[in-house]
Amino acid sequence: MTTPTTIHFKETDIDAIAALEGRVAVFVAEDGRLDVNARRVNRLTKGALARFSESEAFEKMKASQAMLMSFPAGMEAEALVVVRLDRRPSAELARKAGVEIAKLKGKGALTVLGGNITRAEEISFGIALRDYEFDVYRTENGEARDSEKGEVTVMVNKPEEVARAAAPLAAVAEGVFFTRDLVNEPANVLTTDDFAARLAAMQEIGLDVEILEEDELEKLGMRTLLAVGQGSDSPSKVVVMRWNGGETDDAPFALVGKGVVFDTGGISLKPAGGMEEMTMDMGGAGVVAGVMRTLALRKAKTNVVGLVGLVENMPSARAQRPGDVVKSMKGDTVEVINTDAEGRLVLADVLWYAQERFKPRGMIDLATLTGAVIIGLGHENAGVFANDDDLCKAMLKAAEAEGEGAWRLPLSPAYDKLLKSKIADMRNSCGRPAGSVTAAQFLKRFVKDETPWIHLDIAGVASTPTETAYAPKGATGWGVMALNRLMDEV
Ligand code: BES
Ligand code: MN
Ligand code: ZN
Repeated sequence: MTTPTTIHFKETDIDAIAALEGRVAVFVAEDGRLDVNARRVNRLTKGALARFSESEAFEKMKASQAMLMSFPAGMEAEALVVVRLDRRPSAELARKAGVEIAKLKGKGALTVLGGNITRAEEISFGIALRDYEFDVYRTENGEARDSEKGEVTVMVNKPEEVARAAAPLAAVAEGVFFTRDLVNEPANVLTTDDFAARLAAMQEIGLDVEILEEDELEKLGMRTLLAVGQGSDSPSKVVVMRWNGGETDDAPFALVGKGVVFDTGGISLKPAGGMEEMTMDMGGAGVVAGVMRTLALRKAKTNVVGLVGLVENMPSARAQRPGDVVKSMKGDTVEVINTDAEGRLVLADVLWYAQERFKPRGMIDLATLTGAVIIGLGHENAGVFANDDDLCKAMLKAAEAEGEGAWRLPLSPAYDKLLKSKIADMRNSCGRPAGSVTAAQFLKRFVKDETPWIHLDIAGVASTPTETAYAPKGATGWGVMALNRLMDEV
């Protein structure tokens, strides 16, 4: 498992600056002013920092941007990371500054000269979030690579205070990393069994984890979920994770995730080009797991239940066929037009089960559901579908506050005609028009009118081909921060 860098908070020590090893991050205010730490660095470097702050290069830097000054004379440090940031930055700029520092932090030690800057905890959080690399499978001469990260120390005037503010953010970083690892893992490692075992291990941090195996799912009537997994040698499972930090009688909020550990498309086989990316088709389940981890680690005062449907969509002699009709736990029948539209079949049963068993006060599902959402929104925004305007507004606000892109798309009975089947209650695939909307409209059939509900189509944002605001390319952990925030508000 990739764990976030531990960040140490220490008291400012001006006299120690000259001898600091590794890289040293120092802040210059937007107007070019130097704080006490920066003035010290400036003296040691014979005015280099002041010259820089008056230069055109500094003028062109945006707030929170950073620049590397290698081998500063008069200091032991290998390099200075000079950051343009005011003493009282917004949370967003502070976090961004942390991200920029992380990009320039190198392999050795890093000391951040925070001084009396506010929101040093957000700077630290930004460093932790961006300092991620999934390198467990890279070797040097066949041996696991030593990927130990250098120590990160943030020197501030009130270290205890900052450490206290940083603790809940460290829990968020752990949740984000947990999600990213799950999404990045290949499917020969992250099988349904392996995934369930990793979730069960979270009992150690206080989550209540229950694994429903195939025979139980059969008894519950989850035929649409089981039909997706029946072509695979990996057994289908539903895992229920509970965090009960709120009042005993309060109904939980439910988070539901699509956990297709690999999506070949099934008998409606996907083309070879790009199929390897379908290791991330458990991204929804990954986010649910990451949020549950964060809630437990920060001991959130709320009741939340996370449910994930873990299956593998494989072609085989036992696989479901196009044209099959399957019955959901709810009782509605589905004609399987395309075995590659499997996510909605998995979610249909888990959504229904979540409501029948937990009567949740609200429900959000996350799924890498459609390629169409990538056509519509690219990798910048998740598609948001909601049957409740208040919950939707709260979600969009939380996503905005955390810098996670989210854009609302419509649900409407006008699309229902596209779901009509010749022989069953509905069909699972409805052609190219509005592919993400018809998928959401399908899910809505398994949501009770009284349940405030959001569907998040994260196919474009769960894993990205280029770096994002907080993550290197690959798995992003999109949604962990927004949902963690939202869970305190709903
Ligand atoms: N897992 C895919 C959606 C997907 C595509 C996720 C690209 C991430 C990147 C999903 O199961 C799928 O195959 N959807 C089909 C639906 C269609 C057959 C109705 C799609 O989007 O093409
Ligand atoms: Mn598919
Ligand atoms: Zn899929």
